[in-house]
Amino acid sequence: MKVTIVGAGAVGASCAEYIAIKNFASEVVLIDIKEGFAEGKAMDLMQTASLNGFDTKVTGTTNDYSKTAGSDIAVITSGIPRKPGMTREELIGINAGIVKTVTQSILEHSPDVIFIVVSNPMDTMAYLTHKTLGIPKNRIIGMGGALDSARFKYRLAEAIGCPSSDIDGMVIGQHSDTGMIPLTRLAVRNSIPVSKFVSDDRLNEVAEATKVGGATLTKLLGTSAWYAPGAAVSSMVQSIANDQKKMFPCSTLLDGEYGLSDLCIGVPVILGKNGIEKIVELELTDAEKEKMQTSAAAIRKTNGLL
Ligand code: 2OP
Repeated sequence: MKVTIVGAGAVGASCAEYIAIKNFASEVVLIDIKEGFAEGKAMDLMQTASLNGFDTKVTGTTNDYSKTAGSDIAVITSGIPRKPGMTREELIGINAGIVKTVTQSILEHSPDVIFIVVSNPMDTMAYLTHKTLGIPKNRIIGMGGALDSARFKYRLAEAIGCPSSDIDGMVIGQHSDTGMIPLTRLAVRNSIPVSKFVSDDRLNEVAEATKVGGATLTKLLGTSAWYAPGAAVSSMVQSIANDQKKMFPCSTLLDGEYGLSDLCIGVPVILGKNGIEKIVELELTDAEKEKMQTSAAAIRKTNGLL
């Protein structure tokens, strides 16, 4: 299993680190445009192999896509991250051109590759990848919901006062401060609805904190987050690499599911060796359906800027 990560910045490097530590991939290639940067990150990471006990071979390259040849999975993190006060949508101008170029270069050297798109605005970048490459839709996956759901579980655990591992919950919709839909109604602590443990008002606060999860970190860090994005990507990569068929909310091209078509938006999917193996259709309430429509309208607006 060869995984290429485009962009050796904080998110890309964190993806590489978690993939290496989880020790399921034979090879990870980091590629970046900044001279020597990916090579340096890869070497630093490889020097942790004896300490962390992994055998994954991590290499770095400055813009030489021939080194990515034969990749099974490519993670696209390239482009600029947001600064405090910015929305993800504001990044479209710069990131669209970068994502278009790098995904074409990857496909040239790895015709059967499965893409995981992380660059923002992510739902629109996943859609752009479809429009640019025209490859089967199961091979383009947007990373947003897995991260947003992890942040949702963190906030729920904080509100309840329990470990995150007690919590199950999911966020669907757009990967944006306003378009995320934390499915509070379906969230549970060990099979028991979370509403048994905290008030509705507190649950609303949890949902709002989840939606601005990325923005909160951007304000604290001065740039966007990397540990949770890297961990979310690595779990998705592992589900594909090991054909685990785990369910994650991911941005996927819809074709009538959820009453939506011709856009990428976060919904639960099964990830296995073929990428997206199934889109899971949830029974949404009328209020949730309405939020999904609003979220879709916001994505379409951003897609219109392409
Ligand atoms: C975030 O929410 C990177 O969009 C990503 O942190």
